[in-house]
Amino acid sequence: PRCIWLSRHGESLYNLEQKIGGDSLLSKRGEKYSSKLPAIVKESAGLKEKDIVVWTSTLKRTQQTAQYLTNKKLQWRALDELDAGICDGMTYEEIEEKYPDDFQARDENKYEFRYRGGESYRDVALRLEPVIMELERQENILIITHQAVLRCIYAYYMNIPQEQSPWVSIPLHTLIKIEPRAYKTKVTTIKANI
Ligand code: G3H
Repeated sequence: PRCIWLSRHGESLYNLEQKIGGDSLLSKRGEKYSSKLPAIVKESAGLKEKDIVVWTSTLKRTQQTAQYLTNKKLQWRALDELDAGICDGMTYEEIEEKYPDDFQARDENKYEFRYRGGESYRDVALRLEPVIMELERQENILIITHQAVLRCIYAYYMNIPQEQSPWVSIPLHTLIKIEPRAYKTKVTTIKANI
């Protein structure tokens, strides 16, 4: 690809309550980010803006974040957030209280830890392979998806070992532009002012 833009969905109602997973809508701030995103993309892409295809997950918060972009859009189930299984919809405090062993196991090996009935980071990295293969065939793509998924995609393009992906920082309300180059991939970010 020539250029890849990455963005987390705007702040969601679950983010506000510090709950993981689910399929909630955006908060007021998240909605504000979605309304500013077209201008931020324009600022970052310039004339290329119209050639960008937007990929989202199948979850509402990513589609809502893309709602004001007029570009062609495609949904990928493989871009859905890391499935927290039995912990879906819980806060980390609740997980620690209800499933202390799981909480500790995840702390000890976050990359390999698979939520019961859900996924690990390794599982996410594997299911992203077809997405990345398709991405390699495309020109300019903006991916609006979730924190854990973006950590894996970012690690892939930045040559960070996948095992380190759970600790990669992907800030909220920030557009990341990646320009893969032969010797050094260039990264620029624009933080939304909201
Ligand atoms: O559950 C999904 C979160 O976006 C990832 O957060 O892997 O740091 O717990 P975490």
